[in-house]
Amino acid sequence: MIEVKTVIDAESFAALESRCFDQPWTASDFKPRIPYVGAALWVDQVFTAYAYGTLIGEEAELFRVACHPDRRGKGHGLRVLLAFQVDCFENGARRLFLEVDANNLAALALYRKLGWQQTSRRKDYFGLGNDGLNMALTPEALRSELKRGGY
Ligand SMILES: CC(C)(COP(=O)(O)OP(=O)(O)OC[C@H]1O[C@@H](n2cnc3c(N)ncnc32)[C@H](O)[C@@H]1OP(=O)(O)O)[C@@H](O)C(=O)NCCC(=O)NCCS
Repeated sequence: MIEVKTVIDAESFAALESRCFDQPWTASDFKPRIPYVGAALWVDQVFTAYAYGTLIGEEAELFRVACHPDRRGKGHGLRVLLAFQVDCFENGARRLFLEVDANNLAALALYRKLGWQQTSRRKDYFGLGNDGLNMALTPEALRSELKRGGY
């Protein structure tokens, strides 16, 4: 059974970080200092994927989205990110932002699938040959992508 909740579970998020990122965050990095939003996904009660960011007024920023390496390619990343996005919009966000390594093709494809559009490019932002892409999402773009994708 797949269960998705809009919660911050700092310990669980941190436990997956080292499996998913070269520079993993610790649980204290997920402790809220400013308004925040998060989504968590369990498969048969096993913690599997999460999304985390901030929500300040009409602007939200996605900091992290990740899925356990052994459970990728099954739609969990999409489900948990969708829950994060919807929660942001339902709680007053008019625009979501993120920055992603242009070489992270899986993440890029996921973001595009959920309606994100590139707004600018920062050359070598993540190191030589690793440009940063800034992307944004509006409720309208999400709605139209969801309609198109038949979710
Ligand atoms: C990005 C990530 C969260 C995707 O999670 P996932 O559960 O495997 O993704 P999903 O199964 O939900 O895939 C949804 C869509 O994303 C895209 N996608 C996912 N993995 C992909 C890959 N390896 N190559 C190309 N596209 C991919 C596809 O469009 C896919 O839709 P489709 O299956 O209908 O083609 C996962 O790869 C991950 O945890 N990466 C490491 C952490 C990271 O880099 N996070 C992003 C920066 S914060």
